[in-house]
Amino acid sequence: MDVLINVFVALHIIGIASLLGGFLTQMKSMSTGTARFGPAMLHGALTMLVTGIALVGLNQADDNPVNNIKIGIKLAILVVILAVVYVKRDEETAPKGLFSAVGGLTTANILIATLWT
Ligand code: HEM
Repeated sequence: MDVLINVFVALHIIGIASLLGGFLTQMKSMSTGTARFGPAMLHGALTMLVTGIALVGLNQADDNPVNNIKIGIKLAILVVILAVVYVKRDEETAPKGLFSAVGGLTTANILIATLWT
């Protein structure tokens, strides 16, 4: 089971890379107002959701403690990120404030995941 959990943590990290990478690679475009919510960000956010839920199930099945408050906060933040990226995915350019908010919320989730022990 440990191997399976670690595989899902790896997939979870790939999801972060896609979501945050999609944001970071467009920071310059953001300053010129041409950034957009690309497929990498949408698929990264979806990967986070699917692998995150799987990790909760796998950890519970393995009797590992799961911090429900921490996971609940991460889930709530990700739902906001996913909603914004999904709704705005076909727009040629993303509003600067909304785009930076998605980058900020993603970073907040990384800090919650790593600092809340
Ligand atoms: C943008 C959103 C998210 C980010 C940036 C994120 C980040 C991370 C990171 C960096 C880890 C590895 C570090 C660790 O083990 O503590 C992790 C683990 C984990 N994540 Fe996420 N996560 C996100 C969303 C979610 C969601 C939505 C769920 C559940 C519905 C979830 C559930 C978990 C679980 C169960 C673990 C492993 C166990 C633990 O927390 O101790 N994550 N996450």
